Amino acid sequence: MDLTGRSFLTLKDYTPEEITYLLDLSALLKEKKKKGIRVDTLRGRNVALIFEKTSTRTRCSFEVAAHDLGMGTTYLDPSGSQIGKKESIADTARVLGRMYEGIEYRGFGQEIVEELAKYAGVPVWNGLTNEYHPTQMLADMLTIREHFGQLKGIRLVYLGDARYNMGNSYMVACSKLGLHYTACAPSKYFPDQKLVDQCEEYAEESGGSITLTENVTAATRGADVICTDVWVSMGEPDSVWEERIQDLSPYKVTADVMKNAGSQAVFLHCLPSFHDLNTGIGKKIHEKYGLNDMEVTDEVFESKQSLVFDEAENRMHTIKAVMAATLGAF
Ligand code: CP
Ligand code: NVA
Repeated sequence: MDLTGRSFLTLKDYTPEEITYLLDLSALLKEKKKKGIRVDTLRGRNVALIFEKTSTRTRCSFEVAAHDLGMGTTYLDPSGSQIGKKESIADTARVLGRMYEGIEYRGFGQEIVEELAKYAGVPVWNGLTNEYHPTQMLADMLTIREHFGQLKGIRLVYLGDARYNMGNSYMVACSKLGLHYTACAPSKYFPDQKLVDQCEEYAEESGGSITLTENVTAATRGADVICTDVWVSMGEPDSVWEERIQDLSPYKVTADVMKNAGSQAVFLHCLPSFHDLNTGIGKKIHEKYGLNDMEVTDEVFESKQSLVFDEAENRMHTIKAVMAATLGAF
């Protein structure tokens, strides 16, 4: 399979075979790393990492993966470049494309990463937009495959805001790869119908399915994977907190939800998480609303069923695979 020169903007652009190839390559690179076998066939190349929103996992994954592959990196922080302020996306893309072999972008609208890819002349990788988080999906799918030994037929339920980057991306990934996807949320948080229709078509091909429901008990009964995400995403205004807390509190992942799913079920969360409210923004939320947790309880987060740190580690191996494949290292 040759993915050289391709951008990685959303899994919608990739066939199930191509996604599976990237997962297989991730597993291979992970195994080599664990054995201490160096794979630095991209020595002498350089990549630019644009972050218009903050990051821990995605930034570190791109940096470690690039360095493991032998590449140099330039990190452009949310305020450290001209992008989108003094310079257009198209000009930024054409400049960086002359200096770097690939560009990662994390920021706002999907149209920005599309525009970068249109003008850069080198592969562009989406490190999270409002609409999609495709590298996160590779990590999640790898984690599920490692745990269950397969992806087809797995029942994955996402509780929370199902119309934003994580919810959209789960629906695309599951429908492409033959998982049964359920978005469980108040109906105003259901994904856009156009995307649902498109994913229904993928699911028909893959043997997967899509369900949208408001009913937590019915949705999670017997599920294999329970996922959630923060109730308010980066870049959203503070004014939405109150409404989100009200709307999404019934969709919190609790011990009862996990029990209803069954002992075989695992818990995933892309992180960062508000399973405790002792840090930073969490503290303010705790003081203002008197909550002790938000989308998931500390009990579930810290339980044996929680695979969140395997998932976080897999960000690095899967991002390495994306860069290696699209830069022609394999
Ligand atoms: N999951 C994820 O993208 O984490 P960061 O925001 O820390 O990159
Ligand atoms: N939905 C979250 C995901 C963080 C990785 C956000 O966009 O902030």
